[in-house]
Amino acid sequence: MTRMIHHSIRHLGVALSILLIALLAACTPSHGQSTFDTVGPVARSQLVLFYWIFWAAVFVFVTVVGALLYIVIRYRRKPGDGDPPQVHGHKPLEIAWTVLPAIVLAVVAVPTITTIFDNANSPDQGALTVDVVAHQWWWEFRYPHPDESGNEVVTANELHIPVNEVVNVTLDSLDVLHSFWIPKIAGKVDVVPNNANTMWIQADIPGEYLGQCAEFCGVAHAHMRLRVIAQPREEFDAWLAAQALPAVDPPDPLALKGKALFEGQAQCFSCHTVSGLKKARGLIGPNLTHVASRGHIAAGELENTQFNLRQWLKDPNAVKPGNIMARDALIYKDADGGYSPLPNESLSEAQVSALVSYLRTLE
Ligand code: CUA
Repeated sequence: MTRMIHHSIRHLGVALSILLIALLAACTPSHGQSTFDTVGPVARSQLVLFYWIFWAAVFVFVTVVGALLYIVIRYRRKPGDGDPPQVHGHKPLEIAWTVLPAIVLAVVAVPTITTIFDNANSPDQGALTVDVVAHQWWWEFRYPHPDESGNEVVTANELHIPVNEVVNVTLDSLDVLHSFWIPKIAGKVDVVPNNANTMWIQADIPGEYLGQCAEFCGVAHAHMRLRVIAQPREEFDAWLAAQALPAVDPPDPLALKGKALFEGQAQCFSCHTVSGLKKARGLIGPNLTHVASRGHIAAGELENTQFNLRQWLKDPNAVKPGNIMARDALIYKDADGGYSPLPNESLSEAQVSALVSYLRTLE
């Protein structure tokens, strides 16, 4: 029996050590999604607030547990002790334990409220505004057209912003609740259908920053990632100008075959827009006009390589379970005249090659 208890204690010790190491490792600022390595004023103000509340909590913990331990040890019952003196009321003590928590609450409340207002109100209302639209399970980003005449410039999953500038963000969802979160740049703001929330972001250092949906939104919630690409103003302007252009016709025959499939048998056009194509006006999936210019596909799941694009088209469900393309997009008659429930399986290798070849020309 004692041996069993010893064993259990040892197992518990090992489990707790592993948990502690995992917890400490999770705090490393070198992690791509660490909130301790901030690159912008919004995330920084939230980190400062975290430290205020953390140290207030440390003060409360040390004071309460310290007093408790001191009193338990100092006034413990000793052999031969009679009943302790019976006391009713103690004015100085009662004042102390009313005033002290009030001070602690004020220390927490004042910076909390000022941070909330600072983060809610953009310091530059006239700055670039990007509309973020959340979908199950990817992000759509809509920019004002660079020459203000045309339609919005629409892209997906990679949010380009000019560095060292305020960027205003409006948040909307077309299906369920999501939450927009770029840990190093700004904390979470809920994305609510039919209720546009707003926030502002700013990155101080050029670079690529990871983001993620932070509200459970269905089976592929964990695969709903995004990247923020902060770049110097000129680079950003050049990028936006390129994104505003329509797609050009591919030069090689295989890609042209892919284009015909895209607008024909493979039915890609019914869910995806490629500006410049007549039929491709679908709004269900990401805008693919410049998909080849993105570093990743499938909402940050895969690097945008020829191989991965193939995998994605052939079996989207394996990459992102439950996604619409796998579920119900490409429904057309198979060889027996029936409807295939997993339609991408009915794309032949040659068809996939042609589609991949076409998609890779959309730079
Ligand atoms: Cu979108 Cu979780």
